[in-house]
Amino acid sequence: MQAFLESLTMTVTASPHVSRPATAERHRAPIAQGDQSAQSALGPSPYSAATSAATSAAISAADGVEIRPFDGPLGAEVLGLDLNQPVDDATFARLHRAHLDHHVLVFRDQRISPAAHVAFSRRWGPLEVHVLRNFQLPGHPEILQVSNVRDEQGRPLGLGDAGVFWHSDLSYKEKPSLGSLLHAQELPAEGGDTLFANQHLAYEELPQALKDAVRGLRAEHSYLARYEELRARNPWRPALTEAQVAEVRPTVHPVVRRHPETGRLALFVSEHFTTRIVGLPEDESRDLLQQLFAHSTRPSLVYRHRWQPNDLVFWDNRSLMHLATGCPEHLRRHLHRTTVEGDAVLG
Ligand code: SIN
Repeated sequence: MQAFLESLTMTVTASPHVSRPATAERHRAPIAQGDQSAQSALGPSPYSAATSAATSAAISAADGVEIRPFDGPLGAEVLGLDLNQPVDDATFARLHRAHLDHHVLVFRDQRISPAAHVAFSRRWGPLEVHVLRNFQLPGHPEILQVSNVRDEQGRPLGLGDAGVFWHSDLSYKEKPSLGSLLHAQELPAEGGDTLFANQHLAYEELPQALKDAVRGLRAEHSYLARYEELRARNPWRPALTEAQVAEVRPTVHPVVRRHPETGRLALFVSEHFTTRIVGLPEDESRDLLQQLFAHSTRPSLVYRHRWQPNDLVFWDNRSLMHLATGCPEHLRRHLHRTTVEGDAVLG
């Protein structure tokens, strides 16, 4: 295995970005139905939230809701929808299809209450309650505060360092999350972007030999993998109780997962939570994971979300990894996150 991995290192790292066909077809789920106009032309990196009127086909329906794919490897913005109002079944079906096709939906200008955020999140499935209970929004246990803001006593309101390593939310659970919905409350004047990397493309663009090599492998994921490292950097992170540790016991998942709704394959390892490849010697496991981490976050796979006031961003943890880029410490950044339960990971 070692010699094999070494022979592949050059292939993976030296492989130039293969330019993608200017069509959304390669991003479409195999079982895609409906929303036939959901075609986007994919342009070159760097990707951003800017949509190109010339290259993105906006999908508009009689209800005035528009879904505009981004000019990039993933993502679409949703305009003309007020999530204070109940979402009818036809609109929900369009959102569902778009979420499967584009993996990130950016709902613009959502001036919604925490209760409305929770209600909309529940349309996608039951919600998780994060193991760090002290960062819940009071009165709303389903909302994790992602925040560097402190209260009058100087105590952090939220998890200020959430997402500082690439990860897929709750991959350390037996049933990792389907998706997360992050709502901007207060944004810094500088920085604070969130990056998303398309793990379907990451798998599809692996050299064939590496694809074959990783297909049957399994890897361990652990919430504790880097917890102490983060605590050393940020001593406000609480020491976990025995009950909390028991809640986040390490689990094993396929390295390549099959999306339960679209059937599309994706890489499913992350620098934050994946500790080892099961059955490989430690050095081989470490080398292979390093290769996969580097490959799976290449700029050509990444969409950078530059937050706008009141954005609500809903991503698919089964298709993507994400990373919080951080902002200068003196600037306030405060968001609310709900996390939708998912299924056991299919290989
Ligand atoms: C997260 O990982 O859920 C937080 C992402 C962010 O704060 O940008």
